Amino acid sequence: MKFKNSKKILKKGLKFIPEQTMTFAKRADQYPLLSPNYIKSAKGCEFIDVDGNKFIDYTMGLGTSVLGYNDSFVNKKVHDQIDEGTLFSLPSVLEVKMAEELNKLIPSAQSIRFYKNGADICSLAVRLARSYTKKKHVLFSGYHGHHEWYSFTLRDSGNIQEMKNYSHKIPFNSFSEIKSKVEELKNDVSIIILEIDFFRPKKGYLNKLKKYCTKNNIVLAFDEMWTGFRFPGFSFQKYIKVTPNISLFSKGISNGYTLAAIVGDKKILNEFNNIWGYTTFGSDALSLKAGLSTIQRIKKVSAIDHIWKLGNYMIDKLKVLLRKNNLQNQIKIIGYPCRFKLHFIENKNETKIIYKIKETLIKNNILWNNMFVISYSHKKYHIKKTLKAFDESFNKLNQ
Ligand SMILES: Cc1ncc(COP(=O)(O)O)c(C=O)c1O
Repeated sequence: MKFKNSKKILKKGLKFIPEQTMTFAKRADQYPLLSPNYIKSAKGCEFIDVDGNKFIDYTMGLGTSVLGYNDSFVNKKVHDQIDEGTLFSLPSVLEVKMAEELNKLIPSAQSIRFYKNGADICSLAVRLARSYTKKKHVLFSGYHGHHEWYSFTLRDSGNIQEMKNYSHKIPFNSFSEIKSKVEELKNDVSIIILEIDFFRPKKGYLNKLKKYCTKNNIVLAFDEMWTGFRFPGFSFQKYIKVTPNISLFSKGISNGYTLAAIVGDKKILNEFNNIWGYTTFGSDALSLKAGLSTIQRIKKVSAIDHIWKLGNYMIDKLKVLLRKNNLQNQIKIIGYPCRFKLHFIENKNETKIIYKIKETLIKNNILWNNMFVISYSHKKYHIKKTLKAFDESFNKLNQ
């Protein structure tokens, strides 16, 4: 396999664009040297790189494609909307239609506002909560984006030191640690914001946390960036039967178009009347149309059902391969059938091992970054081909 064009473009990219691209997860240094670096086109769960090589994809545009890339149904609806116009001087009727749909689908969605990125809405969730509770501190677990209350936890430069005093990392699953943090801060806590990622909540934990938050005037928020439109019933909160005060959706809700939705209790989202939270492209008609048609299509083809069945199949087979290659005590699979990963148990060489696995997978035309994001477009034959490559890569780890 040749990557001549990728390497040529990469050289230019590095010259003009700091860090090569807009998110580290797409950077060339995430993959072995002999890997594609730029994509020309994508369809379903596959893409063609700039050298004409075809790959099966397990990151799916960082989670943005639930149906698969370039979905014909969504495309057709978006093309129709292009002919009607994209952004107007008054609101588009699509805002109301999409809000109505989310209200029907998502338990916490009494009120809804639209934005463009995950970071937009994670930032606004905190401002709303501070305005509503008149309290300052933020407790968070997981990743939430590039905005100020969070970014310093990953890179410290460019942030005002005092800001750091108001954001506190907490474990996802520990009620006692959260409680003692709230007490330490004399309950000056406005919001607890949890990313729903690979770790399953302890039984009854989220219900208990919700009750505690309500009693203590703390807003409970779920960051459903990765779970939205991937879980049975369209959301993690419906699946787990716990309704947070605010929920944050982006990524998969519009199948590759740029839409984010902050949804939640009416009384909290009414704080939009008091905070400053305006943005020009929030009512972009193309993304709203994409969102509406994504919902339609997911329902019509039972996409979530397909994803969970296929995900469960893949997890079972991967477990068999781990046992076959005697790796079951070193590597576990964590997450949910719609998105899971390999979890390395106390292995200091994790990065090296993942790199080695990636090398074998790339040679087999599979792009994987330790995340299995299953889409409606993944079919059993894609999974079978991938499992074969994993068998080869696990086998090589033992050599
Ligand atoms: C859980 C979670 N929250 C928030 C974000 C930020 O979203 P965005 O990159 O669209 O700003 C991400 C992005 O990966 C995410 O995974």
